[in-house]
Amino acid sequence: MVVCPAVAAPAVRRSLGQCRPLRCGAGMGWARLGSRACPTTPQPVGVPPPAARPRGWQRPARTGAGPGRARVTVVSPAGPRGTWALSGGGGSLRLCSTRASLEGINRPVIDRIIRVDHAGEYGANRIYAGQMAVLGRSSVGPIIQQMWNQEKDHLKKFNELMVAYRVRPTVLLPFWNVAGFVLGAGSALLGKKGAMACTVAVEESISDHYNNQIRTLVEEDPEKYKELLQIIKQFRDDEREHHDIGIEHDAEMAPAYSVLKTAIQLGCKAAIFLSERI
Ligand SMILES: [Fe+2]
Ligand SMILES: [Fe+2]
Repeated sequence: MVVCPAVAAPAVRRSLGQCRPLRCGAGMGWARLGSRACPTTPQPVGVPPPAARPRGWQRPARTGAGPGRARVTVVSPAGPRGTWALSGGGGSLRLCSTRASLEGINRPVIDRIIRVDHAGEYGANRIYAGQMAVLGRSSVGPIIQQMWNQEKDHLKKFNELMVAYRVRPTVLLPFWNVAGFVLGAGSALLGKKGAMACTVAVEESISDHYNNQIRTLVEEDPEKYKELLQIIKQFRDDEREHHDIGIEHDAEMAPAYSVLKTAIQLGCKAAIFLSERI
């Protein structure tokens, strides 16, 4: 796989910025700085090192790994097809080219899932940024910061998944950037309860949305999408926890709570609908 940082989307470029080109196996990929050669990719059979090549030696013809056929595999530090290091959501991916992994996936479904989840986590980050701008120094500042930190981990993971699965981000990111911040800051201007009401509305929508995706992936093939399912389930649990924190901090006592919650959730539905498609 070749991912050119010059043409990658900004979020993708950020991930690539931490990588170095890696030649391994029959293709080329990217590895985290400081990592050594890809541990999962076998060296090509019958290719001696340059110094040991006899005069007139020719590289054997490649079978199926030419341009457009390279594959990306997502490997955990534990080894090929190991489990994700997910505690705190910050486990990192190493990418290297093999012919496995992307083969046989339902591309439209996976594109949609990763694109919308990336957009959602991006928007959640902007909401908490807006809330912190207003309430950062208040008594709920640390609790908002704690939830924001988890959203940063979620976003980081989806940045990595976009590279691994070669999914482009939604074109609406600049809009979610502004809309998320305005929603966060606007709800925080209603007070701590207003901010928590916003958190409850958004997190409930996101955890329901993740549940729908879990159902979709289980219906598709739970074994094939095991790693993605594991990530989404953990993030769903985190969002559920954020929702409960909002309730514990008197979200339901916010002015016009029901109206506010309904309006925000309608916005979330529209955002999900659009981000899946464009
Ligand atoms: Fe999140
Ligand atoms: Fe959340």
